[in-house]
Amino acid sequence: MPSLALSDTASFRALQHHSTQTKDRQLRRLFSQDPTRFSSFSLEAAGLFLDYSKNILDHTTLQLLADLARECGIETQREAMFCGEKINSTEQRAVLHTALRAPRNQALHIGEQNVSADVHAVLDHMNAFTKRVRDGEWKGYTGKAITDIVNIGIGGSDLGPKMVCHALRSYAHPRLTMHFVSNVDGHDMDAVLSTTPPDTTLFIVVSKTFTTLETLLNAQSARAWFLQQGTEDDLAQHFVAVSTNTEAVKTFGIDPANMFPFWDWVGGRYSVWSAVGLAAALSIGFEHFSDFLAGAHAMDEHFRHASLESNMPVLLGLIGVWNRNFLGCSSLSIAAYHQDLSKFPAYLQQLEMESNGKRVMREGAAIDIETCPVIWGDCGTNGQHAYFQLLHQGTDIIPIDFIAALKPSHHLPGHHAALLANCFAQSEAFMRGKTADEVRADLQKTGVSNDAIENMVPHKTFPGNRPSNTILMDSLTPAALGALIALYEHKTFVQGIVWNVNSFDQWGVELGKVLARTIQSELIAESRPENHDSSTNGLIARAKAATVLHF
Ligand code: F6P
Repeated sequence: MPSLALSDTASFRALQHHSTQTKDRQLRRLFSQDPTRFSSFSLEAAGLFLDYSKNILDHTTLQLLADLARECGIETQREAMFCGEKINSTEQRAVLHTALRAPRNQALHIGEQNVSADVHAVLDHMNAFTKRVRDGEWKGYTGKAITDIVNIGIGGSDLGPKMVCHALRSYAHPRLTMHFVSNVDGHDMDAVLSTTPPDTTLFIVVSKTFTTLETLLNAQSARAWFLQQGTEDDLAQHFVAVSTNTEAVKTFGIDPANMFPFWDWVGGRYSVWSAVGLAAALSIGFEHFSDFLAGAHAMDEHFRHASLESNMPVLLGLIGVWNRNFLGCSSLSIAAYHQDLSKFPAYLQQLEMESNGKRVMREGAAIDIETCPVIWGDCGTNGQHAYFQLLHQGTDIIPIDFIAALKPSHHLPGHHAALLANCFAQSEAFMRGKTADEVRADLQKTGVSNDAIENMVPHKTFPGNRPSNTILMDSLTPAALGALIALYEHKTFVQGIVWNVNSFDQWGVELGKVLARTIQSELIAESRPENHDSSTNGLIARAKAATVLHF
């Protein structure tokens, strides 16, 4: 682990030198010079295929990046994570989401805890519970089977299960409608409660800490709504909890027998593999949930054992470092060419930005280089008709991760070829661009005047040389999704090690939470607020004047 500033390490300097020497490289030329570029710069692991040949790099770049990873101690840190060392240094916690998807016979102890026994005891409980709900044995208070499941949680207690349910909706149980309420904005809960029948709705209150304001308020509102129809005695059939905080769950009024625990060594944004994934297990069934875990485990095994040079998460992470720190790219766009992955970019936003959106090193000193880029995106082909213009011809270079499945899970003729054609065409267009001469030649065929041609040439020219990765899976199965998420988790880990940040804390979300508590009490108080800046005072006063009856 470097205690030096990263920019002072030998490998970082070597990369800087290499980047200045190669700064004019053009992807078009790299492809025409080397017909084997695709096979040289692609690999398969855990059922996923990664083509990284459309990045502005060569074998030397990759070797220097691997040197950087080694100098940063990636191999030691990786093993420390898998073995349960307390690598989350500011919270003194182990980081063991990989243990949540390890097979039963893969023993792991940390301190007094038999991790693998505890993990599998909860999985067994989830298995039994999901079976009862899905088979209709678990009844609501009028004796009817559950029809609606409402997951109440936010951040990692929402984004993971919501994304997985959506991604695997072709596996969903036909009787169960899944709902997700995260926002403290009452419109979110209100919209769900206006459609769900109280006697056949099951609420899963998911919160690692069970102190999160949004989740507790939403859970209280759901409870009050339920008690308009059912009784206190009926609550046990309609409310279950997922948390690390048994006492708070009891205080809230949920029977601990209906609580699915997890542990402080599971970070919120890494928790979908734990009981936090209960909504997903209910929707797709426990066997498919087990396949999902197995897919992630396959990626774990690859990440843990493959050499850095042929390691998919390491390569994805290091290419991101190359784009961020040496090519100056400040954001990464995720283009999922699969409608069922529409919630994947939002999931990755929390995973990467909450993990690596940091400005100090693990030892506390300021970092002297850029860290996590902004992660954003949407589904292909929708993005093509919205923001791809900027990606093709804007002034910033924004790398793109294309993600697609080779086989669809629908039977509509014609759609999938059109989808994949667009995915591959976009990555080709970003790489090749279109030169002024090519534009001229095209326009000349239309018979317009030379003056008109010259006026149009700058507008129709594409610079190209835009880096991209393409990740392919055979089809979007539970196992493939598990491997895909684990790929990005480990990519995030790799980048965190290189940038020397603690990827497993999130102190940056605290300040706003504290200020909101103060402002909330001021909004309902009689007096005018005076302790803020004039803007904040003014906004509070305006809200008090307008909405006093609703607070
Ligand atoms: O405030 C950020 C955060 O702590 C996330 O890291 C977490 O996923 C989310 O809030 C929800 O936290 P909890 O599961 O404890 O309610």
